[in-house]
This record gives sequence, C-alpha cells and structure tokens, in this order.
Amino acid sequence: AIDIKTLRASTGMITIDPGYKNTGSCESAITYLDGEKGILRYRGYAIEDLAEKASFLEVAYLLIFGELPNKEQLDKFHADIKANSEVDEDLKKIVDSFPRSAHPMGILSSLTSALTAFNPSSVDINSEEDMYKAIVKIMGKFPVLAAWTLRKINAKPYDYGDSSLGYEENMLYMMFKKPNESYVPNQTVVDALDKLLILHADHEQNCSASTVRIVGSSHASLFVSLAAGVSALWGPLHGGANQAVIEMLEGIKADGGDTAKYMEKAKDKNDPFRLMGFGHRVYKNFDPRARIIKKAADDVLGDLGVEDPVLDIAKGLEKQALEDPYFVDRKLYPNVDFYSGIIYRALGIPTEMFTVMFALGRLPGWIAQWREMRLRKEPIGRPRQVYVGETHREFKPLEQR
Ligand code: ACO
Repeated sequence: AIDIKTLRASTGMITIDPGYKNTGSCESAITYLDGEKGILRYRGYAIEDLAEKASFLEVAYLLIFGELPNKEQLDKFHADIKANSEVDEDLKKIVDSFPRSAHPMGILSSLTSALTAFNPSSVDINSEEDMYKAIVKIMGKFPVLAAWTLRKINAKPYDYGDSSLGYEENMLYMMFKKPNESYVPNQTVVDALDKLLILHADHEQNCSASTVRIVGSSHASLFVSLAAGVSALWGPLHGGANQAVIEMLEGIKADGGDTAKYMEKAKDKNDPFRLMGFGHRVYKNFDPRARIIKKAADDVLGDLGVEDPVLDIAKGLEKQALEDPYFVDRKLYPNVDFYSGIIYRALGIPTEMFTVMFALGRLPGWIAQWREMRLRKEPIGRPRQVYVGETHREFKPLEQR
C-alpha cells in the first residue's frame, strides 16, 4: 500500500514514508528483486542457479566485484583471504571479558568493531587497492570472530582454522574442532552450509545493508560499518527471525503441537505474537529463497538421517497459513528463515548461533553495498523529518518547575 505523505516543513517539502516502504535510498547494480514475481538475482544471475551451481566464495566475489571470478581470480581471492585469517591475540582478552551468557550477536558486533583498533590501516580508504586489502582482511577475520563467539559460550579454547580447508569447511572446523581430536567436516553439512550462505548473501536495501551504507556514508571504517550491520541483523524482525522461528516451533511442540491455536494467536490483534518466519517487506507472493531452502531442509535431514518433529510442525503451520484468509489476504508466506533454522539445527549449530550464521552469509553483501556506496561517492546519509513537537517554550529554572 502506498503510504507516503508529503508535508510542508519550514525548509520546503519533505516526504514521510515510514519504514521507507516506497522510498529508494540509492541506485544499485548488485541485487535485483521483484517481490510480486518472486525473483531474486545477484548481479543478474538467478539465485536458483547460484545456489545450485556456484560456491559461496564465487558468489561473494560476484557480489563484491560484479563478475563471476575465473579460476585464477577465485584462487587469488581465497589465498588473500587465508593470508588474512588471523586476528590479534589481544582480541582473545576481549572475548574472555564477555559473560558466557552473552548473546553471540552482541559479542560478534563488539569484536567486529574492535577489529578497527587492531587494524588501523583499514580505516583510511583512499583507493580501490586499500578497499581490496580491507575486504580480504574482514573476509578472513570475520569467520574467526564468529567461531570464537561459539567457543566462548561453549567454554572451548579459541583456535585458528586449517588453511588447507575450503572457506565453509574452515568455518565448521573453527567452530567444532576439539583439542587433540581430528575434525573432518561432513560433505552434506558443508554443501548445505554453502547453499545457506549463498541464499543469505545479499538482499538489496534491507535493514542491515541500509545500516552498513548509512554508517559507511560518513566514511567511518568498513569494520565499524559492518559491526553496525551485525547489530541491525540481530533484531527478531530481521536476521534474528531464524532463532525466533525455532524457539517458536519448539514452544508449539512443548505446548502439545496445536498449530491451529498459534495460528489464532498470530491473527489476534490484541496478542503481540506473530508467526515468526512469515511475511516479508518485499516478497508478496513467495520468497524464492524459501522454496530452495524448504527442499534443502528435506534433503539435508534425509541425508543425515535426522527426524525432526519441529519440521512437521513447520510444514503444518505453512499448510494452514496457505489456506487461511488472514495470511492469504495479507500475502504472508514463509520467508527464507522459516526453514533455515531447521537446517542449522540438523547441522549441529546451536540455536543462539543461527543469526551469526546469517551474518557469515550476509558479509559479502554488506561489503558489496559498502563498496558500491563508496565507489559511487554517495553523499552522507542524512534523512529529514517533519517536526511535530512543541514550538518555542520559555525556559524555567529548576526551582520553578
Ligand atoms: N504474523 C502475523 N501477522 C503478520 C505477520 C506475521 N508474521 N507479518 C505481518 N503480519 C500482519 C501485520 O500484523 C499487518 O496486519 P494488519 O494489516 O492487519 O495491520 C500486515 O500483516 C502487514 O504487516 P507489516 O508489519 O505492516 O509488514 P512489514 O512489511 O512492515 O513487516 C516483517 C515485514 C517485519 C517481515 C513482518 O512480516 C514480520 O514481523 N514477520 C515476522 C518476523 C520475520 O519473519 N522476519 C524475517 C524477515 S526476512 C529476513 O530478515 C531474512
């Protein structure tokens, strides 16, 4: 629905569009999506093809630099990332200072921000070469930080990865390798993770990408801009939905599995409960990523021999929602996160890490958005407002109030 008001402010005409439902913030050549037709393309390539045929690092390169890499370019990109995948030992002290009960997204945001202090050369970006150096640094270090957040909450020693492994394999290695034991990631798990990361890699001007662009538009460093993106992603209306979905499904299961009861709660306007994983700001017919992921959930659970009653509850909710006029009229369909949590669970990733996994996937998208914004020399992001508060008031000293 169009909900734009144009109001006269003291300095001219100001357009109010709450939530930016109809307002573009930039021109972009990274991700194309058509919410009505359920189309998602990265740099012109269909998400279905990329999820099926490309690796996450190829997609990362495509998003950031605009073209699919050839073998040589991909090898160089990976080698440069590997060469930058150690972080300063002092960062371990920062990780140590968090309580074990801290949410991993809070830790990850803080560590990403702290990286700036340990990598001062990444702050001043004056050329594409500076940009490239900062990009491979964060692509290398971010998975280390993400893995350490899990090691912190599991009270396991922090470790670096194994540079002989692929990018996603190494993520799993860094998260799950136990001291004095070998760890060989299961290929089904690696493939599923690769697909999930690709599906999450970019989604044009969503809340976190817009955050990264607007913070970066002040020429704050790449790493703090990304830290702000991590914070934006944490919220349950955005990336935090994947954790919220599983918690909701588990709650329904613990309450006897009565999905119809929860459908009614979701429809009740006096009840704050929302069906997590349903609805999307842009997709109003279906989320193409949800289609891919639903099939992947079936495949992964089948391959790993996992029977998950939560998947049955998810399918039951989806079936009821597709037949319910409340959901049909409002065009509310399962989004990508309705099924991603089920896969992450099957891969052995703890629930509170789901949004961190999303962040690992979204990293190249955020970087691509930031790089595009800087290369286009976009001005500082600075929305206007229409002031509706008190007009001029006489000041009263404290003793007269
Ligand atoms: N359950 C029940 N009702 C819903 C839901 C839901 N999940 N989502 C939207 N609605 C209803 C709203 O109450 C509203 O009803 P009304 O017209 O009677 O007032 C109508 O549908 C439109 O909803 P809005 O909130 O205006 O839609 P908006 O585009 O602002 O929000 C959002 C989109 C945030 C995704 C919303 O659908 C939601 O909260 N979903 C659940 C959280 C979620 O899954 N987030 C993940 C998003 S995808 C991602 O980040 C990867």
